[in-house]
Amino acid sequence: MEIGIDKIGFYTPDVFIDMEKLAEVRGVDPAKYTIGIGQEKQAVAPLSQDAVSMAANAALEVLDEEDREAIDFVLFGTESGVDHSKSGAVWVHHLTDIQKYARSVELKQACYSATAAIKMAMGHISLHPESKVLVLGTDIAKYGLNTGGEPTQGAGAVAMILSANPRILAIDTDSVSMTEDISDFWRPLHSDYAYVDGKFSNQAYLNFLTEVWNRYKEKSQRDLSDFEALCFHVPYTKMGKKALKALTENASEEDAARLMGYYEPSVFYNKQVGNIYTGSLYLSLLSLLEQGPELAENARIGLFSYGSGAVGEFFSGTVKPGYREHMLKEEHEALLSNRRELTIEEYENILQQALPKDETDVELDTQEAAAGTVVLSGVHSNVRNYTKK
Ligand code: HMG
Repeated sequence: MEIGIDKIGFYTPDVFIDMEKLAEVRGVDPAKYTIGIGQEKQAVAPLSQDAVSMAANAALEVLDEEDREAIDFVLFGTESGVDHSKSGAVWVHHLTDIQKYARSVELKQACYSATAAIKMAMGHISLHPESKVLVLGTDIAKYGLNTGGEPTQGAGAVAMILSANPRILAIDTDSVSMTEDISDFWRPLHSDYAYVDGKFSNQAYLNFLTEVWNRYKEKSQRDLSDFEALCFHVPYTKMGKKALKALTENASEEDAARLMGYYEPSVFYNKQVGNIYTGSLYLSLLSLLEQGPELAENARIGLFSYGSGAVGEFFSGTVKPGYREHMLKEEHEALLSNRRELTIEEYENILQQALPKDETDVELDTQEAAAGTVVLSGVHSNVRNYTKK
């Protein structure tokens, strides 16, 4: 029985900044951000969009009545959790009207947890083939103003419905994963901002990639010639290029040219959004499937997931015939092109805003949100209130 991605939705807040303008204000050559880092725009989350509301918005894009009845597991992958106890999955389950006899849980391991969620979903569906599972990867990447990580911030969510006989991507069981306790990037409980050893994090990412890939080759007896395209965790698009270069260093000209040929479509959305942590690999997959040329039936895509701290995994999937009919290309292009550009001053104000860290009630400005969008409308008596505009 094939198990995999049957639907995939995406949401990002409706405001962004232009990277060249950020560079000018920071006194940096704009080419460093647009070429050196490889980012054009950066999504900014107003206070009324958090990991829960963004995930609900991504899920609402794809859920229909049949899905709502069949989903019995909601897995919420994030490192931007909003409560130490209650999982974001419970709010999303409610906000999206999924039938009540379901499990709902939140998973954390930096940018890796949506991949763990996919693996759990596959185990669940293999035991219960009639079930569907909603997997969410949702985050706000925040390093702070004037930090080295600032050009690699972003915000957004990917929602995937996993099922038997999927219509988009059948996922193989050919994974190799790896864990090592390192301090390349982390966010202590007291901090709204991530801490990062930037250069070390780049090296750790590449070390994980090389090691899991070499083991994967041994275990699966596959090599680059078996892959039509590769997708990577994309903290910024230049990192995706470094990853691709590392894997194709000793490849044949034919393999290298084919795999490099898919790089631009596979980062087209990431370039306009920035890092969305847990969802970044799946935003790259979405970008490849929507913005790349139509892939042949059963073309194999290799996927590398990396979450600092660190866990990495390489696995693969094959595209299903007619998958294009199930993509929401026009909607995603419209989502990105209808956003409002913020001035750098507006962005700086938003980035420094935070919900009260005490018991104060708060009512949030939700004016900008589009109709039908889920927003965090306030916090009252320590309870977060979400509403659909
Ligand atoms: P930096 O020190 O500002 O930048 O840090 P740099 O000096 O290394 O320059 C970056 C690139 O721009 C270099 O290219 C420069 O040559 C180039 P590279 O050598 O890398 O190919 N450059 C220029 N290019 C054109 N014209 C110019 C110019 N000037 C310079 N004028 C860094 C960059 C990414 C380290 C920083 O932004 C950072 O710390 N970001 C956050 C950490 C991060 O994203 N790490 C990625 C790997 S870890 C990961 O992916 C996990 C993560 O998603 C978290 C999770 O798992 O939850 C982060």
